[in-house]
Formats: sequence, C-alpha cells, structure tokens
Amino acid sequence: MVLHGRRIVLGVTGGIAAYKAVEVCRRLVDAGAHVVPVMTAGAEHFVGRTTLSALASEPVQTSLWDEASPIPHTRLGQQADLVLVAPATARLLAAYAAGLSTDLLTNTLLATRAPVIVCPAMHTEMWENPAVQDNLATLRRRGVQVVEPEEGRLAGGDSGKGRLAAPERIVAEVERVLGPKDLVGVHVVVSAGGTREPIDAVRVVANRSSGKQGYAIAAEALARGARVTLVTTVELPLPPGAVARPVETAAEMQAALDDLAPTADVVVMAAAVADFRPVHAADGKIKKEMGVPEIVLEPTPDILAGLGAAKRPGQVLVGFAAETSDLIANAESKLRRKNLDLIVANDVSAPGVGFQHDTNAVTIVRAGGDTITVSLTDKRAIARAVLDSVCDVRAALTSFDGTQP
Ligand code: PMT
Repeated sequence: MVLHGRRIVLGVTGGIAAYKAVEVCRRLVDAGAHVVPVMTAGAEHFVGRTTLSALASEPVQTSLWDEASPIPHTRLGQQADLVLVAPATARLLAAYAAGLSTDLLTNTLLATRAPVIVCPAMHTEMWENPAVQDNLATLRRRGVQVVEPEEGRLAGGDSGKGRLAAPERIVAEVERVLGPKDLVGVHVVVSAGGTREPIDAVRVVANRSSGKQGYAIAAEALARGARVTLVTTVELPLPPGAVARPVETAAEMQAALDDLAPTADVVVMAAAVADFRPVHAADGKIKKEMGVPEIVLEPTPDILAGLGAAKRPGQVLVGFAAETSDLIANAESKLRRKNLDLIVANDVSAPGVGFQHDTNAVTIVRAGGDTITVSLTDKRAIARAVLDSVCDVRAALTSFDGTQP
C-alpha cells in the first residue's frame, strides 16, 4: 500500500472547511498512513482538538511551546514523508510564500524537505485576489503541489470557486505524490462496468458488474503518473484526473476502444462485456398483454480479441477472465486466443470475489506462463498488483528491443 507507514503531517488552518480535514484524516489513516495533526489557533474555532486527535495517529499539536521536545518545529518537518495543509487559508499561503514562521505549522513547512501539498479554501473574492494567486504561483514555482478548490456552496450562503477539494481528491493527490511514478507519460485506457444491451425502450440484458475493479485500476494508474481514459458504463465518482468515455452497449464500448487504442500504451479490459445481445431492440416498451416475447440473441463483437489482432509493438493488453470453474485453464486459453500480454483470472463464484464486492482475489497469468496469485484483498490492492505486472511487461519489452515502449 502506497501510504502504509508513511508519516504525514496534516496541517489544518482556520476556515469553515476545517471540518472536512477530519474526513481527510480518517481516509489517510484507513489507507495505512501515520497522521500527525497540527492545528493553527484559527482552526480551533472550527473543529475540536479531540475530534482530530481521536481519528489521527497522534494527539493534535498546536504550539511550539507545549511539547516535551524543545524543537517540535524542526522535528515534525524532518520526520515527515509529506506535509499536507487542508484547508489552507490565504493567511497560511501568504506566510508560507513569504517564509514567515509564525506558528507550529508555518515552522514545520519551513523546516521540511518532504513534498508539500496545500489545499486552499476561501471565499471566491479572496481566491481571485492577485495577492493570493501570486503567493500560489510562488509556492508552485518552488515545487509545492496545489489541489485547487472547487466551485460550490461556500460559508454564509455564497457560492463560487473556493470550496475545499473533496477529501477523495486530496487523498488521491497524496497517493500520487508518494506513490511510485512508473507510469509517467503512459496512456492507460481502462474499461469498467457491465454493458447493457437493449431489449426494448425500457429493458436491457445486463450483468452484475459494478465497475469498482475498473475504477480502482484507473485510480492506481493515475497515482502512478499515467494519463488515464476510463471507458465506463457506470457513474461512480470519477478518479480525479481521469477522462471518462461513457458508453452503454458492447457496440459503443467497441467504438470507444477502437478510437482510443491507437494512442493507448496500455489497455486494461476490466469491463464485463455482454457476450450476447438481442438481434432486434423494440422501439417502444413491449406490452405485457402481447404475451411472453421471444427474444432472439446474437453474439456481440469480441472487443478484446479485436484489440489483440491490431496490437501495436510495445502496447500492453490486459484482459480479465471471470470464471466459475477451471480458472487457470480457461484464462490461459483466453490469453492466447485474444493475443494478450496478461490476463487477470478471478473465480467469481468464490466468497468476496469479483462482481460488486469491494474485494477480489486473482491470479495474474503472463504470456509465457508466469503466474502471480493475489489472495482476497481490496480492489485497489488488486489494481496495484495488476499494474506492477504491466510495468514488468513494459520493462521486458524495453530490454528486449532496447527502445522505450
Ligand atoms: O465491476 P466489478 O463489480 O468490480 O467486478 C469486477 C469484474 C468481475 C467484472 C472483473 O474482475 C472481471 O472479471 N471482468 C471481466 C468480466 C468478463 O467479461 O470476463 P470474460 O471472461 O467473459 O471475458 C474475458 C475478457 O474479454 C474480459 O477482459 C472482457 O472484458 C473481454 N470481452 C469479453 C466479451 C466481449 N464480447 N468482448 C470483450 O472484450
């Protein structure tokens, strides 16, 4: 896990969005990080010390002077793997940009060599003020990462740009900054969800795919620096930075993938594509009074086999195999038939595995026969293992022909 055991100083400053820092803290701790919370005096007007202390890995610190250690300002900064400030007020940004050490948080920021992420949150007028934008430009120039605020409702009934970024966006940025950067410059196309094939205007042939596994792969690829396009049939929250191509049917998914494949370095087909579709979809709703309809099915195009047939040198193609018996034999047969580099086999009849669960268990089979088994874990960890294998394949392709794939 990218954040496992990583020491993150979470700075919280005085704005109404401070309450969201509690959720950011919880998510970081859930992801395995050791979170050291530091609050400014202003933050204490908006969120209680006890709340943050209860959720973080250590009690909240607020002052340079209330610690056993005589030098908390350098100790916190030196020991951190990352310093995150969420929310960051205009005052904090100004002090940091000017190099002013006015309190424990600004001291920590000045004393650290770790990467720093600031997440500004303020009213639109303040956000747009040239002084604030100049301070941000200065910080960006010095390598500080800025998670821009979002448009939306602000304190006091106002609305506009300035609302703190959603906690999942902030945590994704932390993962991106701390994670391995082995997919920088790589275009990864991921398919997710189950296709829906119309029977009539209201009914479809569908399957149980939730899209969770595909979205986890997209999020992990983004964290590792990839450019990600997600061809999706579902409306889960889009991993920050991904470009979505919404589709519904196998034919639409095929059109999207055929369009994207020429620029894709890696294609991961986590989607459950219907193997059959009704030959004719009725225009309106088939009325019950007309009796039980006879629905004639025809095979859908095998999208992945088509991509395999047109595979470019250096391109990495990954399929999934959803099986209920003969897991490895069936997966290997699909790997060969579809000309894939990797296939991720999951036994979807096993408890907690495959469709809809937050967890999965897989065997990753590589062309040539190597296998890696990942026992039951969350779908993000599966995504990590799949992309580790993708990177191994890319490295082998590089060493084989001496060029960057
Ligand atoms: O979405 P979740 O709820 O998180 O569930 C995850 C999952 C179970 C959907 C996922 O882990 C998975 O197994 N996806 C592949 C499902 C599937 O369609 O498997 P398959 O064995 O039928 O197909 C083999 C491969 O060919 C797949 O990569 C599939 O996308 C592709 N295919 C299949 C049929 C078709 N007409 N065109 C295709 O491209």
